[in-house]
Amino acid sequence: MPKKKLLVLAGDGIGPEVMREAGLVASWLERERGISFDITEDLVGGAAIDAFGTPLRDSTLQSAKAADAILFGSVGGPKWADQPFDNRPEVALLRLRGELDLFANLRPSIAFDPLIDASPIKPEIIRGLDVMIVRESAGGVYFGHPRGIETLEDGSQRGINTEVYTTREIERVARVAFELARKRNNHVTSVEKCNVMESGLLWKQVVTALHEREYPDVTLSHMLADNCAMQLVKKPSQFDVIVTGNLFGDLLSDLASVLPGSLGMLPSATLGARTSDGRLPGLYEPIHGSAPDIAGTGAANPLAQILSFAMLLRYSFDLEEDAALIEAAVAGVLASGLRTADIMSPGMARVGTRVMGEAVLRELDKMVASRIPA
Ligand code: NAD
Ligand code: IPM
Ligand code: MN
Repeated sequence: MPKKKLLVLAGDGIGPEVMREAGLVASWLERERGISFDITEDLVGGAAIDAFGTPLRDSTLQSAKAADAILFGSVGGPKWADQPFDNRPEVALLRLRGELDLFANLRPSIAFDPLIDASPIKPEIIRGLDVMIVRESAGGVYFGHPRGIETLEDGSQRGINTEVYTTREIERVARVAFELARKRNNHVTSVEKCNVMESGLLWKQVVTALHEREYPDVTLSHMLADNCAMQLVKKPSQFDVIVTGNLFGDLLSDLASVLPGSLGMLPSATLGARTSDGRLPGLYEPIHGSAPDIAGTGAANPLAQILSFAMLLRYSFDLEEDAALIEAAVAGVLASGLRTADIMSPGMARVGTRVMGEAVLRELDKMVASRIPA
């Protein structure tokens, strides 16, 4: 198998801390499963501002375009609060999504049974939770024009952002949602605010037409975004795949992350269109940020980063078996009672980032050993 080109961008805050543990899982796969990665590491976000004055160098962008997949940590933090707006750490992530045209951000929210007690929601509501949010990630109000801050004649100012969606942008992300639903529970909920926004009205019309034309076998419902936020907490079991725009998807996925217990558990994949030679470019990252409040304390949960790496293996490298192995190892570690602070509940053993990462490796060892009798 040719080496898979993997660009690793750990970023800021807890990014490098949790990335280290994902890196150890990659080394384990090389050692135990005969997979070879061609890994390049680079600085991004605040770390790149400190070193080079910019959150994303052109050379990093070129490496990202040349890579088979990108494993991303997280960027940002109070240290860079005074950067000019167009040079803040988060620009790196937005430019990568925009310039690589990574338009489908898959954010699964799954309840691991052993974590049911860590959720602030009642167990009967979240048991069996398995929702996939497909968030449009290369358009909408994040990228629309006009934008900016203007000074008016009277000296006061106005800030402007514009939500723009084209038929093509809506169709391509909705197609991802319908295709995913076919492999899951065959239901898509399309979420917008068509009662207020023209971009939402077009969204609903385009999704409806695509459904009738190409996916009549999948069931489709529509929901207003504010109601969806409420329904996600009240009765998450009604959802299978949710497809929505960039900003609503950002909010709804943070909300959905609380259901299984913590932001520290939730991975994501941001995918582009399949290339003519069959590759699926993607950027994989936890949905959490750089967590400045706990950075440097060794307390961060590395599981979202490790699970993001599993998604990378599944979607960009077609290594389903290895992805499933990692996910099973994470479930095994949780079942053994180890908990980082964010998912702690009474009676469990509290550990830090490194012990949690080490436990995943030990679980992987155990799983492989139990498969191949000595
Ligand atoms: P955050 O996700 O960094 O943190 C929110 C809360 O969740 C904090 O209390 C944090 O300690 C906790 N948390 C997050 N990840 C955790 C983990 N792995 N283990 C344990 N606890 C965890 O959000 P924020 O504080 O609003 O943002 C901090 C910075 O991160 C900002 O600069 C923001 O722009 C940036 N950010 C970056 C990304 C990204 O790079 N993908 C995503 C979100 C936020
Ligand atoms: C996320 C983050 C980003 C977003 C920021 C850091 C640009 O919140 O990945 O969810 O808003 O998309
Ligand atoms: Mn977010």
